[in-house]
Amino acid sequence: MNRLFAAAMALGLALSAGVAGADPKRVILPADYDPATYLLYGIHNRPDNGQVRYLYANKVAAEGAKRDAALPNGSVLVMEVYKAKLDTAGQPVVGADGLFQKGDFLQYSVMEKQAGWGADFPATLRNGDWNYTVYTPDKVNKTDTKEEACLACHLPLGKGADYVLSWDELVVKVRGAVPTVTASTAAAGAGDVDRGKALFTRCSNCHTADKTSKHKVGPNLGGVVGRPAGKAPGFAYSTALQGLGASWDEAKLDAWLAGPQKVAAGTKMVFPGFAQGQDRADLIAYLKTLN
Ligand code: HEC
Ligand code: HEC
Repeated sequence: MNRLFAAAMALGLALSAGVAGADPKRVILPADYDPATYLLYGIHNRPDNGQVRYLYANKVAAEGAKRDAALPNGSVLVMEVYKAKLDTAGQPVVGADGLFQKGDFLQYSVMEKQAGWGADFPATLRNGDWNYTVYTPDKVNKTDTKEEACLACHLPLGKGADYVLSWDELVVKVRGAVPTVTASTAAAGAGDVDRGKALFTRCSNCHTADKTSKHKVGPNLGGVVGRPAGKAPGFAYSTALQGLGASWDEAKLDAWLAGPQKVAAGTKMVFPGFAQGQDRADLIAYLKTLN
């Protein structure tokens, strides 16, 4: 079989396979990947699935996040996923720093962005130019990774957060200070529940909304409106939130969503805040529907 014929065959096969060319093989866990030289910008306890996850950015991504609204080509984000170590009662062992202690190392989840890479995917699934894969702990690329599942879960973050679930944390980390909301507008009357629900994608990385769901990085928010702050059973709050002594009425939530650090200095909630009063009002309207 001549080379041209073989190439034509391969192309035909790729096209008949539906989503053409989804190719996790090209996402590389960089040879220089070393947790000591990459920027560690977040550590997430995941009580919902008994994991603890370490989030790292390569230099291109860390530099880009300082200035730009999206990360540059060449950005690589690596997430190390561990099982949490369990105590004899089967509960995660929590260190003095509030973090779940690491048990078995499960995998590296990797996303990489290069010019044109997104073109492999239909517009309804495409995450800009990000591609995704998983590496085993001994650094073998799991080329059978279902990239469509990664894309679907990261997609709702949209362009505003460059499809990165931990976008706010990365930005807060590299820009030094938590951006303070200076020109914050007053909360504007009644909120729009549907818009609030859409804005909740900025929260759902860390919070579940359904009362029956488990805590994630942050406490479950079902029934949060009117609840005393820092009191959801089974969640390890910071001392800042435990000692707040407030209830989440609308005014308190409005202040919290404008800048959590201003309400409870030292809180573990890494979120820069919404400057627009309308955004906060819409989100609060949605939170009320969870009671
Ligand atoms: C069920 C939804 C879901 C799916 C599916 C998913 N992710 Fe994520 N991903 C998350 C969440 C949530 C985070 C934030 C870290 C955390 O709290 O666990 C995250 C974070 C990441 C990060 C760190 C950067 C960021 O966006 O915050 C990488 C890298 C990543 N995921 C790669 C992958 C890869 C590779 C796949 C497919 C194999 C994948 N993800 C599938 C939900 C998902
Ligand atoms: C990066 C993860 C993260 C994101 C994103 C995030 N939160 Fe949080 N949130 C937390 C953590 C962690 C806490 C616990 C804070 C502490 O203990 O200091 C928390 C606490 C809260 C509380 C207090 C709950 C209680 O029981 O006292 C509310 C309300 C809240 N978050 C709402 C939101 C909303 C609404 C959003 C989206 C706009 C959001 N959070 C985004 C991590 C996050």
